[in-house]
Amino acid sequence: MYKKIMVPVDGSEKAATAAIHGAELASKLGSELLLFHVVPSLPPYVDPSPDRLSNIQQVIIDEFSKHGREILDKVKDDLEPYGLNIITDIAVGHPAEEIVKKAKEAECDLVVMGSRGLGEIKGYLLGSVSNRVTRHAACPVLVVR
Ligand SMILES: Nc1ncnc2c1ncn2[C@@H]1O[C@H](COP(=O)(O)OP(=O)(O)OP(=O)(O)O)[C@@H](O)[C@H]1O
Ligand SMILES: [Mg+2]
Repeated sequence: MYKKIMVPVDGSEKAATAAIHGAELASKLGSELLLFHVVPSLPPYVDPSPDRLSNIQQVIIDEFSKHGREILDKVKDDLEPYGLNIITDIAVGHPAEEIVKKAKEAECDLVVMGSRGLGEIKGYLLGSVSNRVTRHAACPVLVVR
């Protein structure tokens, strides 16, 4: 049980805390850990048909992907003391959808995530990504506050 644990990370404090929970569990259960980041795709009202715009879109996505890989590397480095087998992966798209899809594809049997992330709107217990993932994931989801 819980042989492969996914921790989706967005660079927030809460995601870093979730990563520690995931690592603690993984070290006790002998699980593999998958750290996953999603670069949010740009809103559909940006019409990418003119070349100029699609080039700009690509530049933005490339920069965000670079930053996303830095986030993943930092979390991975911080977890080094646990001596775990850690994989990192990145996708571009809608964060909740990509997390649910990846967890299924990679056959993760637990997702450990933060209750909130980088979102600015305070007051909600759950952010929109944790809300969607808890409702749609095929496996159990542990939400860390
Ligand atoms: N782009 C992302 N890639 C990977 N994981 C993410 C991403 N965004 C959120 N998460 C995961 O979901 C958790 C909850 O973040 P969420 O985005 O739901 O909250 P929020 O940012 O406070 O709210 P909102 O995004 O709705 O404004 C994070 O701690 C992290 O584990
Ligand atoms: Mg968010």
